[in-house]
Amino acid sequence: MMGLLSSKENPTPIVRLNKVVPFKHTRVYAKLEWYNPFGAVKDRVANNLILDAEERGLLSSGKKLVEATSGNTGIGLALVGNLKGYSLRTPLSDQIPVEKRTVLRFFGAEVIELDDALCPLPGAPEGAIARARETAQTEDEFEILDQYINEANPGAHYRTTGPEIWRQTQGHITHFVAGLGTCGTITGTGRFLKEQNRAVKVLGVAPEDGHDIPGVRSKRQLGQTELYHPEEYDAEVDVSDEEAYDLCLRLNREESIVAGPSSGMNLAGAFKLVPDEPGNVVVVIFCDNIFKYASSVLRHFPELRPPGKSDESDSGAPSRNEQFLANLVENLKNPHDSIRVKDLNVQLESSARPVLLDIRSEEHFAESHIPGSINIPQDDLSDRSAELPDDRDAAIVTVCNIGKFSKYATLFLKSKGYRNVRSAKGGLDEWVRKGFQTTNAVVAANDSQ
Ligand SMILES: Cc1ncc(COP(=O)(O)O)c(C=O)c1O
Repeated sequence: MMGLLSSKENPTPIVRLNKVVPFKHTRVYAKLEWYNPFGAVKDRVANNLILDAEERGLLSSGKKLVEATSGNTGIGLALVGNLKGYSLRTPLSDQIPVEKRTVLRFFGAEVIELDDALCPLPGAPEGAIARARETAQTEDEFEILDQYINEANPGAHYRTTGPEIWRQTQGHITHFVAGLGTCGTITGTGRFLKEQNRAVKVLGVAPEDGHDIPGVRSKRQLGQTELYHPEEYDAEVDVSDEEAYDLCLRLNREESIVAGPSSGMNLAGAFKLVPDEPGNVVVVIFCDNIFKYASSVLRHFPELRPPGKSDESDSGAPSRNEQFLANLVENLKNPHDSIRVKDLNVQLESSARPVLLDIRSEEHFAESHIPGSINIPQDDLSDRSAELPDDRDAAIVTVCNIGKFSKYATLFLKSKGYRNVRSAKGGLDEWVRKGFQTTNAVVAANDSQ
């Protein structure tokens, strides 16, 4: 397997960009990571995560892997796993392009699609991370390699990507630019390059909040990865969807480089961060190619839709409603996630009283809530997580109006490491129906979501 993956003899190519580069002096090179055997920078990581787990004795043939991914790590794990006899279950966001979800299934992976609202921000697979970690905790046959915390992720880049770039530029590289996803690429490659020459600038590029660039994370979303080490990078910059997709289109049309959206983003970031000076040699990571992103491209360039087709209905994918219902059913299958209001009422009377977290809006909370609840609206959970208990074993029950959004909050909290979180089944409506006390029972009884 290692022989297939990038190595000293067989690196992914770097090519000089000409037509789209706004510089007179600075030379810009793209490292074309889709030349890895399964088409993405993540092949390096998938291979190294598995090798590392084997070395640590965590894997034996027949073992099942569970991993949250934005698609590319999943593809790598599925295919390396097929060779070695490990099957893959991957919970992922349904924001991930249908092309990636489909090929994952084609490769034999079990794909669990989690609905949009599981990710408070589009593209952020918090719910998926929580689900993968929970599966590994509760189902013995599953092993999680956890690319968000595993040093074998940056380790893959320290061992391969960094040395390849150093050799390919004959040590002349002055700036290294990578997008921020798990941050394995920037951290591992950056460490290696700085060890060769402290003057090499390591630059990170992030999308804006609410972005539509699969594989990368906005600054706010980066809290989910422990491999983000801003103190090791020289600068970071944000790039908008429009800037990323426009440059992606230009790369394809003007340079005939079949780069995907995150490559456009990384290059746009390089143009913002690197000065135009003689001697500057920039290497930008181009994570994967455009062929997996037809559905994303159609969203950003609607004029490319076939005549007469106004939406993505020709993709063969289930409608959003169908998908939503399927996801809901999937989410409800886990009985340990929720608590009946009857049992909650008993627990609230006992010494093992859980923390009650009401995730509805401040207005709804002010109208009526279960006495003793704290209120952090769902959209603020990420920003206000400092208000949650420090103890990751603290019992927490999440509450909303009907017990739907509180399930998403539960998954979010699990992704933050809370082990004992459940949502109140049926929510405040059910609590009121059963005749339990609220701060204002009359309003609550009429209140519905
Ligand atoms: C397309 C794409 N771009 C960027 C990245 C980010 O790389 P990293 O996770 O090493 O930060 C990924 C990671 O999955 C990716 O798939």
